[in-house]
Amino acid sequence: MSDELERILRQASRPQRPAPDPRLRVPPLVKGGLPLDGGPTLSLETDVKPAASPAAGSVPKPHFPASKPVELSAAVSSPPTPAARPSQVQPADATAYLLRTVGLYKSYRKGSIVIPVLMGVELTVREGEFLAIVGQSGSGKSTLLHLLGTLDAPDRGEVHFQGHRIDNLPAPSRDILRNRHIGMIFQFYHLLPELNALENVLVPLMIANGVWTFFSRRKQLRNRAAEVLQSVGLGHRLKHKPRELSGGEMQRAAIARALVAQPELLLADEPTGNLDKRTGQEIIALLRNLNQRQGLTIVMVTHDQYIAGQADRVVRLVEGRIEQ
Ligand SMILES: Nc1ncnc2c1ncn2[C@@H]1O[C@H](COP(=O)(O)OP(=O)(O)OP(=O)(O)O)[C@@H](O)[C@H]1O
Ligand SMILES: [Mg+2]
Repeated sequence: MSDELERILRQASRPQRPAPDPRLRVPPLVKGGLPLDGGPTLSLETDVKPAASPAAGSVPKPHFPASKPVELSAAVSSPPTPAARPSQVQPADATAYLLRTVGLYKSYRKGSIVIPVLMGVELTVREGEFLAIVGQSGSGKSTLLHLLGTLDAPDRGEVHFQGHRIDNLPAPSRDILRNRHIGMIFQFYHLLPELNALENVLVPLMIANGVWTFFSRRKQLRNRAAEVLQSVGLGHRLKHKPRELSGGEMQRAAIARALVAQPELLLADEPTGNLDKRTGQEIIALLRNLNQRQGLTIVMVTHDQYIAGQADRVVRLVEGRIEQ
């Protein structure tokens, strides 16, 4: 049972619930008989308790085996809202996928002009897979990645992560999901310029732990961040600010920041787009290594066929859909 994801979803369902009538109250169950009510509430400050053993130094987080079925529809005691209604198309092995989209549509509006970008994207990503999404400039690759990472919401359709629908979660729950379960890297790194590499990598840990817990564990968390930077080959640049790093080093720092909370999924938008060929190749080798050694699932958007060819599978976004 994915305890933490369940808590995120439980919190998400709370504001929509009517006040329960105590006479009619029956604890809702998920498969396996775990009560969904009465558990701890989730907040950025209090949800994460210090690990019993301080050795790990990471954000305490259970792993959510994607293979365990969870009946989310049973988690809400009131009838689901139209937005929260589970997909009609639920294949028997829906939870075998780490990530799955169902008929994603997204348009942008600029004044009276509507720009249709995604028109029914159906995509599945298996746990441990390294998937590349290619397509022409403007075909909607970044738009799709933003929807997968819940940075933006689709007009229509659904995104499922570990068998749970995530596209309709409220913003605080989406923030927690991204903080702990979905790492993201971008073409232009998006590091905070005033912070050095180590501090940039510490930011997600500070958010996940809350300020007070963070300060009480800061030595341990700093060690953790330094370790991750070391693992991506940046152990010698901990105190360098982004402007004092090369492009490849900035991307390594961004990868370390994306991975420090040990997410299950890494979304990469043109991670080599701003790098020379050799440096780009080093970054892909690093991603490949993380995928093979740590089983990290990666979805990478690129327009570079050679880079894409190094993934396990390549799909093409054409006219708003995934070309089969
Ligand atoms: N916020 C926005 N408002 C209006 N139009 C947008 C917005 N964001 C993107 N678009 C338009 O949506 C289309 C898809 O953009 P997107 O950035 O997803 O393409 P892309 O495939 O990532 O392109 P590239 O390879 O150049 O990065 C483009 O035509 C773009 O102009
Ligand atoms: Mg793009």
